[in-house]
Amino acid sequence: MASLTIRKLDDAVKTYLRLRSAKNRRSVEEEVRVILRELIEGREEPLTPFAVPPAAPTVGPTPQRTGAVPEASVTLIIGGGIAAYKSLDLIRRLKERRIEVRCVLTKAAQQFVTPLAVSALSHERVYSDLFDPQSEFDAGHIRLARECDMIVVAPATADLMAKMANGHADDLASAILLATNRKILLAPAMNPLMWNNAATRRNVAQLQRDGVVLIGPNSGEMAEAGEAGIGRMSEAIEIATAAERLLRPPVPRPLAGKRVLITAGPTHEPIDPVRYIANRSSGKQGFAIAAAAQAAGAEVILVSGPVGLDDPQGVTVKHVESARQMLEQVQAALPADIAIFAAAVADWRVANEGEQKLKKTSAGMPPLQLVENPDILATISKLTDKRPPLVIGFAAETEHLIDNAKAKIARKGCDWIVANDVSPATGVMGGDRNTVHLLTRDGGEISVDSWPVMTKEQVAVELIAHIAKAVANNTAKRETAT
Ligand code: C5P
Repeated sequence: MASLTIRKLDDAVKTYLRLRSAKNRRSVEEEVRVILRELIEGREEPLTPFAVPPAAPTVGPTPQRTGAVPEASVTLIIGGGIAAYKSLDLIRRLKERRIEVRCVLTKAAQQFVTPLAVSALSHERVYSDLFDPQSEFDAGHIRLARECDMIVVAPATADLMAKMANGHADDLASAILLATNRKILLAPAMNPLMWNNAATRRNVAQLQRDGVVLIGPNSGEMAEAGEAGIGRMSEAIEIATAAERLLRPPVPRPLAGKRVLITAGPTHEPIDPVRYIANRSSGKQGFAIAAAAQAAGAEVILVSGPVGLDDPQGVTVKHVESARQMLEQVQAALPADIAIFAAAVADWRVANEGEQKLKKTSAGMPPLQLVENPDILATISKLTDKRPPLVIGFAAETEHLIDNAKAKIARKGCDWIVANDVSPATGVMGGDRNTVHLLTRDGGEISVDSWPVMTKEQVAVELIAHIAKAVANNTAKRETAT
């Protein structure tokens, strides 16, 4: 079998894979596997002569493909207990949350629910036999253990938990649980006496030490007439909510309630209707900052010059061409709590912009008179009423980086400067990586924090983390003052 080195793929393919895997919360490697599987399953032509046999369901209907990209996937192990009937509802609850479910039934579970019902609800084939040649031809138990984001065991019987705690692997369910490197969520269900038995107590303690997460059991009536106590499996909705919380832990949103204004990209300064003066800025750094600020919970307005990038999701983007249009949109977007000026604004524009296309004449080249553009960063930094409390500029320099950046803070009147070396040898302009120094001004003091070389996305995340810290410090200071 050939192996594939993701590192060696084209940049565009790598970027696509990175974005898609982040969106689906999978590793890049897993995402590639999913794409290949989808490709094979979606093919109408049989792949001969070396066809991969399609995983024909042993029971139940042919899996339905909804077309929607699932966001997460779970291997659900259904143990043998009366609570197994609740697992049918659990499948539905997980799928409602866009969690794909592949089910494994223990031998005992099949006494309580049928593989047909489970398969019909999960729209997937059901697995139950460790020695099933259909799925074991390519180590099916390993795939069920790893090709998912999490394993849920519901009901987790005393026997299954004992096997897990002691590392047994004598059936498909226990083999999966031993072979997995994914999070495991157990929903125990058993008679209260079994739950309180010293052996179960030891096993539960061991499983918790091993990092396994438990939900329930709840207390209540047992299936056995007249018995009550702790041992009822949690309700399907409780298990699904716990699974979702583990799969998609709440993301910290340190900039929630803050309005962040960002400029990005180059500006195009028209010479005539078809020609313009431009620079090599790609806009990647400003766009990455906008995406990071949005992910941190901020309301983001991005004013962008002409770039070849997709608008970041959840961000209000104002597309402009020239510096004057950029200033206009920036002013219209105020007030803001934080303003980050990452655009490479052209310093000059053509004073005598031609209304018609300039023609070559025997009289020689047309004189291009340049006038200075408005300095957006300086204009906003010097506002008296609507000045954002934190104004950050960029300093792209080819020499004397720190000294020039320090002078720029003073000259422009901003609070922070992100300084980067854009000498052609660095490949920063238009490239994917950046080496930056963050200069922060506290009163008259300027501190310099030099960061290692990072991708522009990492620089963005780091900058937003610094901003979030400053915002939190300011809030704390204000609260102690009052
Ligand atoms: O003066 P210099 O172009 O080096 O300053 C860079 C910083 O100033 C950047 O933050 C850039 O976005 C901002 N700038 C601006 N308007 C200009 C020129 C630069 O906002 N006309």
